[in-house]
Amino acid sequence: MHKPWEGRFREKTEEFVEEFTQSVSFDSRLAEEDIIQNLAHIKTLLKAGILTEQEALLLEKHLLDILQDIKEGRFAFRKELEDVHMNIEAELIKRVGEIGGKLHTGRSRNDQVATDERLYIKKAIKECVSLLKNLRRELIRLAENSVDIIVPAYTHLQRAQPIRLSHYFLAYREMFLSDEQRLMNAYRLVDASPLGSGAVAGVDFPIDRFFTAQELGFRSLVRNSIYATADRDYVLDTLYACAVIGMHLSRLSEDLILWSTQEFGFVELPDRLCTGSSIMPQKKNPDVLELIRGKAGRLYGNLMSLLTLLKGLPTAYNRDLQEDKEPLFDSLDTIKACIKAMSLVLEGLSVRADRTTPPFGDFMSATDLANYLVMKGIPFREAHRVVGNLVAYVISQGKSLADLSIKELKDFSPLFEEDVFELLDPRIVADRRKTYGGTSKQEILRQIEIAKREEGL
Ligand code: ARG
Repeated sequence: MHKPWEGRFREKTEEFVEEFTQSVSFDSRLAEEDIIQNLAHIKTLLKAGILTEQEALLLEKHLLDILQDIKEGRFAFRKELEDVHMNIEAELIKRVGEIGGKLHTGRSRNDQVATDERLYIKKAIKECVSLLKNLRRELIRLAENSVDIIVPAYTHLQRAQPIRLSHYFLAYREMFLSDEQRLMNAYRLVDASPLGSGAVAGVDFPIDRFFTAQELGFRSLVRNSIYATADRDYVLDTLYACAVIGMHLSRLSEDLILWSTQEFGFVELPDRLCTGSSIMPQKKNPDVLELIRGKAGRLYGNLMSLLTLLKGLPTAYNRDLQEDKEPLFDSLDTIKACIKAMSLVLEGLSVRADRTTPPFGDFMSATDLANYLVMKGIPFREAHRVVGNLVAYVISQGKSLADLSIKELKDFSPLFEEDVFELLDPRIVADRRKTYGGTSKQEILRQIEIAKREEGL
């Protein structure tokens, strides 16, 4: 098997080096993009008068045949041909003869690989965006079903203030919406064609880069041929967007794992999404959620590995850049699987309202008791201290706020009147938070309506 670049060499490549330098074992995933690119490049060469109409038609036909063979698993990629680009080119030459050798005119693998990669990322981002949309729909469905369920909101993992459970689900819906915007930010920068940049300096054939960009469906082109071939910032943007989604999924997983413990018992996961223990017969483990949480680590790792790969590279292309692909593929595969897994979990999640609702007189009313005094004219700091003393007293008595008499309350502040007792109801406390984005019923219903409208539901 001849290598396209073998002319300059007087020795056969060491077998170990072939194995060490090859990328086809993973970049064969770019085969479809590579062929799409080849087809556009042929049109560009035709327009530039480098190929005749007849030659172009012949090359196109055989490339489409090759694509068909690849899709149907009939194509044998060979490691001694290094990467997906040389494998496809060599096969084309094998099928059409010498003319196939014209395909690579006015192109280098340096602009070729960047083009394939950008096409691949565009497709993958669209898939992620649609999976995220599905996930947000599950969250909105859960939010609609839990408007009247009150749960404690925790800060520092200590009970803070009562909220509607819908509010919690809407928070994650919002995060996954920002994640879509982060992906689309990456998309906008990826959506530019590097083709026609050559190895580094541009191309000496009269090829029309704007035409090629348009043929490939890119919104614009990467203007500078050095930047186009030297950088992988667009891969970093993609890896970062995936890492943030992974972080959000991991935190959601952590909450649900905690909430499904016997200690919390707020939610129940369906059996079909859990696994058992090989020794403890009673166990039902939330492994799917644990793995989503765990996979955030590799998403961070992939981002860090590419950042490190890029930092000391001399401008422009270096073979190190070949190492960008495995982290990229891994992050895209991982994030797609994690979003799907979380959607499944949310679909099967049941909420145990009997367990979530805080009791009448829960200390989470404390902020509202302080605000009650503020409304009667005393400064917030003083009100905070009065209620702090009250809480300490109730704890020392082994009681709850619900056990207090008006007389005991008045000992702490004469401003307390009978109407203060309604503030011990967590539902009322929640409904007092009517600000935009807050937890009151009317505001939550409004937020759900907006979310549904935005998602076309
Ligand atoms: N497989 C290579 C990569 O992924 C393609 C570009 C190789 N270019 C080169 N001049 N060796 O980066």
